[in-house]
Amino acid sequence: MEGYKVCVLAVVWVLIFSPVAHSWGVDGHLTVCRIAQSRLSEAAADAVKKLLPESAEGDLGSECSWADRVKFRYHWSSALHYIDTPDDLCTFQYNRDCKDEDGVMDRFNDLMNNAELVHTDNLTEALLFLSHFMGDIHQPLHVGFTSDRGGNTIDIHWYRTKTVLHHVWDTSMIETFETRSYDSNPDGLIAAIQANITGEWADQVKAWETCGSNVTTCPNRYASEGIKAACDWAYKGVSEDSVLQGK
Ligand SMILES: *[C@@H]1O[C@H](CO)[C@@H](O)[C@H](O)[C@H]1NC(C)=O
Ligand SMILES: *[C@@H]1O[C@H](CO)[C@@H](O)[C@H](O)[C@H]1NC(C)=O
Ligand SMILES: *[C@@H]1O[C@H](CO)[C@@H](O)[C@H](O)[C@H]1NC(C)=O
Repeated sequence: MEGYKVCVLAVVWVLIFSPVAHSWGVDGHLTVCRIAQSRLSEAAADAVKKLLPESAEGDLGSECSWADRVKFRYHWSSALHYIDTPDDLCTFQYNRDCKDEDGVMDRFNDLMNNAELVHTDNLTEALLFLSHFMGDIHQPLHVGFTSDRGGNTIDIHWYRTKTVLHHVWDTSMIETFETRSYDSNPDGLIAAIQANITGEWADQVKAWETCGSNVTTCPNRYASEGIKAACDWAYKGVSEDSVLQGK
């Protein structure tokens, strides 16, 4: 059980000292999972429905923050929510950044292939982990710089509220956008993204779905895109005590 420090970015002190959510916020995960569920093949959709707990009422999105709630109960899982990359390099390299075997990248493939390898033989839990990590790895600062813990130690203001950069990308931005444009209802945002997937972004979809022959997940690519987005957007022009706001 040694070796959790690897693909790790979870910072225990943040979890302890701050009352709010620290992984991609509930709405972010819900959005990712609702969109994903709507795109499953019929067979996959059936399998997912069978695995979901009854309380989910068939909605994967409603359970997609489960992995955040079990970080303490399943202590081994807390390091799987993020990847540390070297400061300022803006690149991800599996061999450099995932030194131990217990990192999220390996878990992606494990989850797809063999649930036992993720310390659980419970396929419901395997599904909920995979769905959650798929969201986390796409939040740019979940693949972030090591010394600032993915923006967790960068104090900034979101409008007038004091918070940390990581939280802005997890939660504040999504909530502000939802409040302003969609009456605080995630369904509006989900519908708008879906409309882009079938419209504006349609010609990119094929590339999202195929990252190599015979692979069902593409975590290396997600992580590389994540740290690049972090540098191009999240970290860009931000310093301690910056004031950030929407356009
Ligand atoms: C599988 O995990 C879920 C979520 O933790 C739990 O509710 C369920 O009881 C578990 N099923 C079994 C058979 O242990
Ligand atoms: C949809 O795409 C347009 C054009 O790229 C973009 O401006 C808009 O923000 C997108 N909407 C959402 C909800 O992502
Ligand atoms: C992909 O899978 C097919 C069928 O299982 C196999 O014949 C082929 O060699 C595999 N290709 C690669 C690149 O692994």
